[in-house]
Amino acid sequence: MFTKKEIEEIRREYPYLNLRVNDHNLIYFDNAATTQKPQRVIDDILKFYREENGNPHRGAHYLAVKATTAYEGARESVRKFINAKSSNEIVFVRNATEALNLLAYSYGMNKINEGDEILISIMEHHSNLVPWQLVSKKRGAKLKYLYLDEEQNIPFEEVKNKVNENTKIFSLSLASNVVGTMPEIKKIIDYVRKNSKAIIILDGAQYVPHNKIDVRDLDCDFMAFSGHKMYSATGIGVLYGKEKLLNDLDVFLSGGDMIEYVYEDKTTFLPSPQRFEAGTQNVEGAVNLASAIRYIDELGIDNIREYEGYLTDYCYEKIKKFDFLDVYTTSNKNRAPVITFNFKEIHPHDASSILDSYGIAIRSGHHCAQPLHRFLGCNFSCRASFAVYNTTEEIDYFINHLTDVRRLLGFGS
Ligand SMILES: Cc1ncc(COP(=O)(O)O)c(C=O)c1O
Repeated sequence: MFTKKEIEEIRREYPYLNLRVNDHNLIYFDNAATTQKPQRVIDDILKFYREENGNPHRGAHYLAVKATTAYEGARESVRKFINAKSSNEIVFVRNATEALNLLAYSYGMNKINEGDEILISIMEHHSNLVPWQLVSKKRGAKLKYLYLDEEQNIPFEEVKNKVNENTKIFSLSLASNVVGTMPEIKKIIDYVRKNSKAIIILDGAQYVPHNKIDVRDLDCDFMAFSGHKMYSATGIGVLYGKEKLLNDLDVFLSGGDMIEYVYEDKTTFLPSPQRFEAGTQNVEGAVNLASAIRYIDELGIDNIREYEGYLTDYCYEKIKKFDFLDVYTTSNKNRAPVITFNFKEIHPHDASSILDSYGIAIRSGHHCAQPLHRFLGCNFSCRASFAVYNTTEEIDYFINHLTDVRRLLGFGS
């Protein structure tokens, strides 16, 4: 695991740590929403605009070629990072949400019919739920959910009971942004493959930033994730898909750079990935994602996972001791680095505002998971989520101020 000294070095690269918020040093625990960026990743944005900015795939001049090389180089970095077979399987999109919508529109709206079933879980983020709801309504299909047990795990029985020959889309999060659950995905995929002909989609938004991922080993058909949750700029995300399946999909957005020939009355389209990247691409974002991947590779994703797991366990053990809190994070230690809880008597927004007055940034609200909150028996919650630059000292400070939240609102002493 990282030593204290190594964490100090890591922290020195984060300019946000120089911010003062309400006269306190900022403690940023909203990493599941978006991570902060290290200086080298910030610098690489400027480097791109200074040295490589052009419109890719469209010109023969120096900068157009530079931009094309940078953009396609970024695609290759992503391919390696998730161990895809070919860089043609890496489609750059805005974020995980766009990747999932692309699948819902290009696949779901065309291939799903009455009587078909779409299976997701109750812990899905809205971006892996609402698109499937729209598909099922439009196409007359049934949307089914896997539910969680008391420890917030997905019981394997649920999978066995809900997968059948009518299951045509199986779309599951690799890690919940609320309860931290990480399903036993290999076992589940294996079962879905053997018992249905469903396409298998994974939402990797909360998993890819923290865990080694190998899409070939998992044998998923598609996977979505976002750059901004893994130390990169916003506005860039990835849709991974098996090449043949991507090329069988209908086009999503159309226009420049995704076509082969355009006639007055018809158009032919390029294969993946260009097929799905209409218009001028977010070259800056892709190049920046590659920079963040270099950063993660340098630290080592296994080291990141181990350290974040340590922080999560540390916080979980402390927070569980407070009887004035309800804690929703799974007790299963194989979990995403999120600690989600509610004060029994206090609204999450009030709690979050008071913590902010001490310089502590946590998330409050439904975290784009309203059905999950209803399932948990609440409407909103507070969430502290960790990244590699957080420390146990920050967690201690946060834990100590939880009692202040109550005291300031007239509960306890
Ligand atoms: C599990 C999960 N899926 C999908 C998303 C959507 O990510 P984005 O907003 O970057 O599209 C999020 C964002 O918080 C998430 O936590």
